[in-house]
Amino acid sequence: MFIPEEIINEIADKTDIGDIIGSYITLKRTGRNLTGLCPFHTEKTPSFSVTPEKGMFYCFGCQKSGNVFSFIMEMEKLTFPEAVQYLAQKAGISLDIEDRESASAENTFRRQLYDLYEKVSLSFHYILTKKDSSEKARKYLEDRGINPDTIEKFRLGYAPGDRRWLFNFLKKKSYSEDFLSRCGLFSSNYRGVSIFSGRIIFPIISKSGRVIAFGGRSPDGSPPKYINSPETPIFRKSDELYGFNLAQKEIRKNDSVFIVEGYMDTMAMVQAGIENTVAPLGTAFTENHANIILKNCSAVVLVFDGDEAGLKATVKSSYICEKAGLECSVVELPAGSDPADILKNSGAEALKNILKYPINCFDFLLNKYKDIYDLTREDGIKSFLNRLFMFVSIQESEVRRTGRLKALSEALNMDYRPVYDDFTSYIKKDFKNKTESGVVPGGRQGISSELYLMLAAVDNYDYFYMIRDEFSIDDIQDTAARNLYIILEECYRNNSFSLEIVLEKIDNQDLKKLVAKKLSSDEFTMNPKQFIEDSINMIKLKNLQIKRLQLEKKIGKDNGADPYSMEKLIAEKLFYDKEIEKLKGTNGNVRVTE
Ligand code: UTP
Ligand code: MN
Repeated sequence: MFIPEEIINEIADKTDIGDIIGSYITLKRTGRNLTGLCPFHTEKTPSFSVTPEKGMFYCFGCQKSGNVFSFIMEMEKLTFPEAVQYLAQKAGISLDIEDRESASAENTFRRQLYDLYEKVSLSFHYILTKKDSSEKARKYLEDRGINPDTIEKFRLGYAPGDRRWLFNFLKKKSYSEDFLSRCGLFSSNYRGVSIFSGRIIFPIISKSGRVIAFGGRSPDGSPPKYINSPETPIFRKSDELYGFNLAQKEIRKNDSVFIVEGYMDTMAMVQAGIENTVAPLGTAFTENHANIILKNCSAVVLVFDGDEAGLKATVKSSYICEKAGLECSVVELPAGSDPADILKNSGAEALKNILKYPINCFDFLLNKYKDIYDLTREDGIKSFLNRLFMFVSIQESEVRRTGRLKALSEALNMDYRPVYDDFTSYIKKDFKNKTESGVVPGGRQGISSELYLMLAAVDNYDYFYMIRDEFSIDDIQDTAARNLYIILEECYRNNSFSLEIVLEKIDNQDLKKLVAKKLSSDEFTMNPKQFIEDSINMIKLKNLQIKRLQLEKKIGKDNGADPYSMEKLIAEKLFYDKEIEKLKGTNGNVRVTE
């Protein structure tokens, strides 16, 4: 499509790049520039810089640079014309974009989904708040102490009990059956049957304020208590936190966020005036979540149930938070109650009071484990220390490590020294365990794992972006894999892919044959996304392990070297350890030893 240059200039003029980027990440002014944590790669110290005068951004860490249009394209996954439209709207400039053909089919699908979820959400909300037939649902929310204001804020809705109502309603609005069958609102087994019928609807809203999915609760609690939308091109569970769009401003203002367990809890907290509250979406808290939070504030308060499951979640989540570099503290609620119960039974003030005094997660866990383990027995002490050493070793600050080790020795009524010694051997053993179990996985059938991954990507081009997000061409050693990478990258940049193009571009006849052979097998048809994700992690892991092995050799050789350079090598080794550990724990399965 064609957008006249003067319109683009006008939009750029009327757009404050600092405001736009500042709505995604926290920016601090340093002289002529604004700086913050780069949204395009994970980092703990800010290397991302915005120069409003020039309308440019640049990251010293990952070297990404551009203007406000490329920023929006990247952040919102939009094409250039869409980014122009997006910014035009923000700047109040009218643009009549008719030509949507240039957008890829995927983008069109995404747009249709956004549009559909918005409309359906409005309908559900209207039905909940205005229809006689929703009397029961309204009564239910009222009984749970949720007031009309909160219902508005969270745009709650109700899906009519008739299981086919939604399908027929949308068909009348001239949505095609094919589109509806792929939109995530209907059963995959029973055509036209809504998965949400008869449920109270909690729209899941993206950071930029768009409805991207739903959660639905059965009002009588009949199982499943909650149903959540399946993942679609606009919804990835582990990328979202419930309530984030409403909470973001307060999160930044307070430089902290409360994490609760569920939908109802988030609403209860907000209703009680604690607006910087979010919840994961029925999944465990993941590293992804921690990274989203890290871009907005530096402290997290976990608000979990005081039962055993709550403790487990606290351990895992605080480990993830601390590892990501977040300050993490904990508020323990009375066993069997959650914020929603407390708000309903004891009121907002009571809830606020409970939340007033969070305890640092290490102190919290120390106290817990002190009760759980018998510290008069040797095995009790051993388990106690093993549990907590983990939380000592993830701390990067030496001061903090020492502080935590001191706290441990005090809890045990012991001198600092033996606890310190045990910690040192814990670190060594931990290190050894990891190097020994660190199998370096290969590919299959005599094909390197890199090539195998690229073959999978040719067969599933839709997921190639995952590979290019992780690896640049220089990260890939295998020549044939490099060849395929380059060809797919070209397709990606030209926004056009076909198997013919790919085969056409392969010079090496053996490689061409191999690709053709793999394409006609159904080797990569089973859950390709997972396969690609796993392979990426495996290769990253392998590369790190190779680096670590080289370091180890160096350390072995440098036995007589001065202690300073030795320390540096060991520090480097620890770094690889951490990265490796991180990878082994991707998708939230962080290995927290039982
Ligand atoms: P809870 O069972 O604690 O529910 O699950 P809740 O949020 O307290 O809801 P109420 O108070 O009983 O109405 C916590 C979260 O886990 C997810 C939901 O996101 C829920 O908010 N969940 C729970 C599911 O996804 N499916 C379920 O069947 C149950
Ligand atoms: Mn609850």
